[in-house]
Amino acid sequence: MSFRQLWESLLPVGRDQQTGGYQRFSWTAADLSCREWFMAAATARGLRADTDRNGNLWAWWEPATAARIPARAGAVVAGSHLDSVPDGGAFDGPLGVVSAFAAIDLLRERGFAPARPVAVAAFTEEEGARFGVPCLGSRLLTGVISADAARGLRDASGVSLAAAMSAAGAQPDLLGPDDGLRDRVAAFVELHIEQGRQLADLDAVIGVGAGIWPHGRWRFDFTGRADHAGTTVLADRRDPMLPFAATALAARAAALRHGGRATVGKVIVVPGAVNAIPAAVRGWLDARAPDQEALRSVVDDVTAAANQAAADHGVTAAAARESFSPPVEFDPGLRARLSGALASGGIKAPVLRAGAGHDAGILAAKVPTAMLFVRNPSGVSHAPQEHADLADCETGVSALAAVLAELAAR
Ligand code: GLV
Ligand code: MN
Ligand code: MN
Repeated sequence: MSFRQLWESLLPVGRDQQTGGYQRFSWTAADLSCREWFMAAATARGLRADTDRNGNLWAWWEPATAARIPARAGAVVAGSHLDSVPDGGAFDGPLGVVSAFAAIDLLRERGFAPARPVAVAAFTEEEGARFGVPCLGSRLLTGVISADAARGLRDASGVSLAAAMSAAGAQPDLLGPDDGLRDRVAAFVELHIEQGRQLADLDAVIGVGAGIWPHGRWRFDFTGRADHAGTTVLADRRDPMLPFAATALAARAAALRHGGRATVGKVIVVPGAVNAIPAAVRGWLDARAPDQEALRSVVDDVTAAANQAAADHGVTAAAARESFSPPVEFDPGLRARLSGALASGGIKAPVLRAGAGHDAGILAAKVPTAMLFVRNPSGVSHAPQEHADLADCETGVSALAAVLAELAAR
């Protein structure tokens, strides 16, 4: 099956008819359909598919016994994730999974016989869109988050991860680090749509990842006093919206000051009446920077601004870190092998540093990992307009096949 056919078979799953964006949140009906799609893609290729104890999906291409190098050789794994942000694009995540299956198809067409296992992986809740912690499946696999902490995470309706998994027929009691599986992975390569315009500006289709900026999520809670919008004189108000607004503006200023990025993309106003001063406002800060010191400065500045603005308005403020990802440098030896394989295949591949988080960044702490990026002409991502041209996606498949052939040949 061609890349295009496989890609199109996944496109309708979880697509919002109004916006054209995707609502693929973990353990929902759309996610279960994505999981069925993965299993069907594996089965159609004769790959052994399974779901690990953390809900991550794996499809294994085992070498023929004759070709196999000495027993217990680690696997070469390619993949990404199938979940989306609210109203996300089609490519962020799925491109890496579809390309991995398509690369296996290409290698087989060419008669390539791997000497070590090759696997396709799809990690659960990479975006943290439902339960708040990004890369949850790879964090659980590598023990970066405890099973108890994960089971207790709650979505916006108060449903815990444990309850959501049980309702979907999965077993939350099995969650936890999986050293045996992790030890089977000799290398992980995540192909991903670029979430910026570096490749377009460099007139290149494929990029190799150098590393990932440190980043994290912080929750800010402002608690004031609900009252009537028409009758409460301004001097008597304790309006939590005002320090929240000051905090969002402070985030922008702090990011500018320290060379980072800061975004307030989600806010909940309680009770949310047009004609009432809110009782409480909860907002989330996503902050990223080139290094940890700059990131700390951004968050410290925003927190100080939130506390000051809250005091100015007679409101209480509380800040809590919900997740953190330290800076990542991808494995230099693996990167060099990727670059060499691409150069031999005539594929120009400049080196990029990512401002976005990826499962490859989490796995990098435990196994050699690397990333390939595919050109995104507009750079738009986490939005329905996210796009990569079909020809570029096909070049991505060729690039991934070249890399897998290099890594699995011996
Ligand atoms: C993942 O896409 C992230 O960086 O938020
Ligand atoms: Mn994403
Ligand atoms: Mn992604």
